[in-house]
Amino acid sequence: MEGPTDAGRGLCTRLKGVNPKVPSPAPCPIPSAAFRAVYPWRFVDFRHSGRQAPLTVLPSENASTSSVSSRKQSELLAHGAFNNGLVRDVNVLQDELALVTGASGGIGGAISTALAKHSARLILMGRTSAKLLACAEGLRSFTSSVEACACDLTKAEEIEGACAHISDKHGRLDILIHCAGVIQHGNLADAPLVSMDLQYAANVRGPLLLTQRLLPLLKKPRGHIVFINSSAGLNARPNAGQYSATKHAFKALADSLRDEVNPEGIRISSVFPGRTATAPISTLHEKEGRDFKPELLLQPEDVASVVLNILTLPWTAEVTNVSIRPMLKSY
Ligand SMILES: NC(=O)c1ccc[n+]([C@@H]2O[C@H](COP(=O)([O-])OP(=O)(O)OC[C@H]3O[C@@H](n4cnc5c(N)ncnc54)[C@H](OP(=O)(O)O)[C@@H]3O)[C@@H](O)[C@H]2O)c1
Repeated sequence: MEGPTDAGRGLCTRLKGVNPKVPSPAPCPIPSAAFRAVYPWRFVDFRHSGRQAPLTVLPSENASTSSVSSRKQSELLAHGAFNNGLVRDVNVLQDELALVTGASGGIGGAISTALAKHSARLILMGRTSAKLLACAEGLRSFTSSVEACACDLTKAEEIEGACAHISDKHGRLDILIHCAGVIQHGNLADAPLVSMDLQYAANVRGPLLLTQRLLPLLKKPRGHIVFINSSAGLNARPNAGQYSATKHAFKALADSLRDEVNPEGIRISSVFPGRTATAPISTLHEKEGRDFKPELLLQPEDVASVVLNILTLPWTAEVTNVSIRPMLKSY
């Protein structure tokens, strides 16, 4: 592992892959003690593990033959689509370069893990180098390269430095996931304006500047930007007015940008999760004086699953906005 590079240029640290492309371990039926020690609030549902059938591709045949059954016909059409490069196969993310902001957090961590397990190359962004390096260390057996890039999104100079470094080093970017965010609740009548300023800087201004600086890199391949928004970005509720305002603004940025960059081949997707079992929500429940029951909430991996589906969609389609809520509506 190399030490941090030029601190003024974003503190990006590369972890050289050891034995890249090691296959994922078989899913564990019960969360390990180590997992529970790190994520004491997390509920893990392994019911679906092992159910995903491998993708099969049929041998080539003439799809226009009228005697084939309709099922066969659709299979053949699917095969034709594969040949035309319209359908992205299961390895579609292999070696794609993805930058995930908020990668040391609950949802960002799950998204980074999902991408690493699909062999994407990663740049993990957050404020704290130590947290990022620990995350990178945990992911490096899955992918050929993971970098930690410390950058405070409320500080324009750090964003400029990090983007200059990424541009010099990579010259391109395939995927940008905006997942960093600050969640502060409070009654609008009393909530301090410094709280509004912080949330605006971290949730709107910083991601906007990051997007502006990285857009030229995303135009080289067919780039994809995913905005991890919130159900609060669609419906403002009591005690979350400031946070909601920043997330509504975040949606506006995504919607405008989509129309501006779609013609250049860049996809823009917004994901609106409901309450998810992560550290800030555990703290929020504590503040609200109510039990924190993670099993009633979305899991970060649920959100990561949606993101993975969005990213691997064929390029004839774009998921624009997708909402995901806990199955049991407990709040
Ligand atoms: N949890 C939910 O219920 C929920 C629901 C809907 C949407 N969301 C959204 O999902 C995203 C992630 O939430 P989460 O629950 O996973 O939160 P989390 O665990 O607290 O993670 C937040 C991440 O953002 C980073 N971050 C915070 N401030 C930053 C700044 N100024 N500059 C750079 N990075 C910063 C943190 O890293 P450092 O601390 O090292 O800076 C951390 O990696 C947020 O945008 C949130 O609005 C969450």
